[in-house]
Amino acid sequence: MVALKGVGIGLRREHHADILRTERHVDWLEVITENFIDHGGNSIRLLDEVRERWPIGLHGVSMSFGGPDPLPDDYLSHIAALCDRLGAEEYSDHLCFSGAHGVFFADLLPLPQTHEAVEHVAKRIRYVQEALGRPVMIENISYYAEIPGNEMGHSEFVTRICEQADCGLLLDCNNVFVNSFNHGGDPLERMLELPLDRVGRIHLAGHKYKGQPPMAIDNHGSPVPDPVWELYDAALARTGQVPTLIEWDLEIPDLDRVLDERDKAAVIWERHGG
Ligand SMILES: [Fe+2]
Repeated sequence: MVALKGVGIGLRREHHADILRTERHVDWLEVITENFIDHGGNSIRLLDEVRERWPIGLHGVSMSFGGPDPLPDDYLSHIAALCDRLGAEEYSDHLCFSGAHGVFFADLLPLPQTHEAVEHVAKRIRYVQEALGRPVMIENISYYAEIPGNEMGHSEFVTRICEQADCGLLLDCNNVFVNSFNHGGDPLERMLELPLDRVGRIHLAGHKYKGQPPMAIDNHGSPVPDPVWELYDAALARTGQVPTLIEWDLEIPDLDRVLDERDKAAVIWERHGG
């Protein structure tokens, strides 16, 4: 098992060849689980090769912690096997639901912020932690509509789940900003309400604005904007040096441009050492 440290980038298909050739510094790589489950041969060989050079963090996109359907045991055993193979100490996915009654929506959808949902999600996180034999972190998602019938605010919802499940928080600073822009509230205040003592990883990304009045859309298609850098700085001031990731998933530029962004994050990360 290898503990992650420093600032990494997401491993994206566009960079598979270049990442193995680059001489620039990267502390670790984050791999999207679903891109490699059930893909044998070259895909797995690439991961083995990458793993020789960098520690790997695994991140999933389809656990559907909040969904009503049973968590598939074969999916969990594939994840456990991948974690073992890559030496991943913990596992992360999103606080959301992605399907219901056998229909998979391929999206990260918000949950009703109710006591019943807290119980349901926390129970499922505990189940996954047991099945994987390692701690789980849940990521705060960006959401574009409030589900009717909320019994608590988003921060309280996240906090209660983390406490009941005894799990970690993957803090996405861009998602905090996007939610504040779209639903109101000061982003720093919103972030400080989250259980920062449980943060085990941080995500940074860019967003865009669409429509009139504008909505912020968490599209991961641009550099990290200034307000998100400010949140990151403020987060590290509370959490200390937490492994950090630059996410760039749309309009992906060449590897060097993503690494430039990584270097910027690394300057802030270093400042919070010691
Ligand atoms: Fe994220």
